[in-house]
Amino acid sequence: MRVPLLDLSQQYAALAGPMRKEIEEVLASQNFILGPKVAEFEAAIASYCGSPHAIGVSSGTDALLAVFMAMGLGPGDAVLTSDYSFFATGGCIARVGATPVFIDIDPVTCNISPAALERYLTESCRRENGALRTAKGERVRAIVPVHLYGLCCEMDAINEIAQRFELEVIEDAAQALGAEYPAAGVSAKAGTMGAVGTFSFYPSKNLGAAGDAGMIVCREEALAARIRTCRQHGMEPRYYHHFIGGNFRLDEIQAAILGVKLPHLDEWSAARRRVADNYRTEFERLSLIGKITLPAEPFRANGLTNHHIYHQYVIRTERRDPLREHLTRKEIGTAIYYPLGLHEQECFRYLGYKTGDFPEAERAARETLALPIYPELSPEARRYVAESIADFFDQGTAI
Ligand SMILES: Cc1ncc(COP(=O)(O)O)c(C=O)c1O
Repeated sequence: MRVPLLDLSQQYAALAGPMRKEIEEVLASQNFILGPKVAEFEAAIASYCGSPHAIGVSSGTDALLAVFMAMGLGPGDAVLTSDYSFFATGGCIARVGATPVFIDIDPVTCNISPAALERYLTESCRRENGALRTAKGERVRAIVPVHLYGLCCEMDAINEIAQRFELEVIEDAAQALGAEYPAAGVSAKAGTMGAVGTFSFYPSKNLGAAGDAGMIVCREEALAARIRTCRQHGMEPRYYHHFIGGNFRLDEIQAAILGVKLPHLDEWSAARRRVADNYRTEFERLSLIGKITLPAEPFRANGLTNHHIYHQYVIRTERRDPLREHLTRKEIGTAIYYPLGLHEQECFRYLGYKTGDFPEAERAARETLALPIYPELSPEARRYVAESIADFFDQGTAI
């Protein structure tokens, strides 16, 4: 049986009619850039997230870049983020000329560890004329927590630390649109707990475009206005440029497609959670708990609906690589998010980190394995995946 990591063909078949109609409308209007479809989709995301402002942009990467540029982060600044994330998080910090500072992860959730964050700020930074500085003298300006795999970071702890150290919080919610967190005991959506949140609509995301697209949500009017201007080369009005921005615009066609899909997002995320529940039942039935570690669900008990949106379903095992080979032989798609901590990426060698600096991220890089998950994944396919994993451990397949 062939089980791909992701298969969106059924989702497309169900929505092909309305999506084509929307595309036709845009083509007929000949209005391709920042038109009514973008405005409508921005309003829909603002309302869905419960955020006063939403700004459509060209990708999740450009969302981060536009925010960092609009906030004036640059040379001499340090920005703290998780060592275990997609490259764009660290890459965009470096692209504006700031210094990325990586922080180790919590081994249970793979999200940034608030304890490690606090340790870094208290043990490695110092106050100088009121400004918090790294050992190398950069001014510590912001924290970028990343809600990895669709599970929110410990935002109460992170926000408390940020407040105490007077740092901005920019949530990289690329993988977590719709995920909820029990902020101060009340449900809050990913992206709305810091000053700004960024999203990606890369096609494989829970809400995916037919190409690249992204979104920024923002609390303050003034910052939202600056990000909007930044999206068009810092231009306001036309051909008058106040600061350097970029072309970070969202296309009408992408916004139109995403607008058709958004009303289905919660049901898709619920279906992904059912797949995760079913995996757990299967793994328990097959006595696999202990041989593999299942994804943590720390907010399930809080009664939140979207306590996890399972953008990815990631298990852990010390025998990850041979298990992956075994599953490949069984025609089961898997992926490793991610094979290296950011501190070990070649392009960040100039930062001076070494192997051993972030033991939990390094261990995660050796142990994590993403299994197939999507709303339409059939019960037979789930069982086949689980039984193939059991097979591997039963046979004690050669390491
Ligand atoms: C955590 C994280 N940040 C940023 C991005 C960048 O988004 P995009 O691919 O839309 O540029 C991604 C995309 O996968 C991501 O997972």
